[in-house]
Amino acid sequence: MPVFGPITPGLRLGIAVLMSVPSLMIFVSIVAPKSVSRWANVVVVMQALYDQIGCGYANIRKPDVRIAKAIRRALGDRGSVVNVGAGAGSYEPLDRHVVAVEPSTTMIAQRPAGSAPVVQANAVSLPFINDSFDAGLAILTVHHWPDRMRGLLELQRVSRHRVVVLTWDPASPGFWLTDYLPEILDIDRPLFPAISDFERALGPTRVETLPIPHDCTDGFLGAYWRRPDAYLDQRVRGAISTFSKLSDPGPSLERLNKDLESGTWRQRYGGLLTKTELDLGYRLIVAGA
Ligand SMILES: C[S@@+](CC[C@H](N)C(=O)[O-])C[C@H]1O[C@@H](n2cnc3c(N)ncnc32)[C@H](O)[C@@H]1O
Repeated sequence: MPVFGPITPGLRLGIAVLMSVPSLMIFVSIVAPKSVSRWANVVVVMQALYDQIGCGYANIRKPDVRIAKAIRRALGDRGSVVNVGAGAGSYEPLDRHVVAVEPSTTMIAQRPAGSAPVVQANAVSLPFINDSFDAGLAILTVHHWPDRMRGLLELQRVSRHRVVVLTWDPASPGFWLTDYLPEILDIDRPLFPAISDFERALGPTRVETLPIPHDCTDGFLGAYWRRPDAYLDQRVRGAISTFSKLSDPGPSLERLNKDLESGTWRQRYGGLLTKTELDLGYRLIVAGA
């Protein structure tokens, strides 16, 4: 559990000072006894969507090695990284100083032993002084932030050299799943920032297409484009936040099930089965030097 007793005003002040110096925080979390490092790792309690839907996330959302490689390449050799909306720790480089920021207790609890220290905080108000880290990272999280522009400005404020964001381009057309569930696009399009918003927040950016492998191990919305049966599995849907927002996906999933059984899906979309990767609109945004 992330909270270990009452937070007194003195303790709050001490933690605030500690958190303003990330390298000190990392040091404490590595060398201090477990009870102390826990205090350094987790600070604020807040309710979060992922406290409700995040249970079992790490079993389904396993980092994909090909995506990890693209993220590492985008980060370059930056020494310290803040990973905002870090969840269970996917894609955190093991050979750098990483500090994770994550609001959800449920997600924090799924971080593997030995993973980077985590601060329980909100992207729109990062508890670090300017330029605290060489690089900032945000993977499939910006669309959850209550004020996306403010969060991106925060990410840039605390990152000295580079910001890397993995996101989905709301101008992209969707894929066969949205033929069954068009509501997905209605929900996601207003949530994901337009690609031009990233440039407005972060300055000049490079936008890289991230094709999704047919056997992607990270079960986000588009991951199963070549494994349609997967969307019929409640555990898979439970690890995809958009499904939690659909009003009543049951009838559409039933139609998918029938189309798979009758061969209709294969008739319509079978051409995809020969592809090894597909551009579904996922983009890596790389800003800074
Ligand atoms: C789809 S998960 C991605 C987690 C991780 N980056 C990954 O790639 O597995 C989205 C994460 O964003 C977090 N999140 C939601 N609102 C947030 C906020 N306001 N500030 C920071 N993180 C937030 C969620 O709790 C969740 O862990």
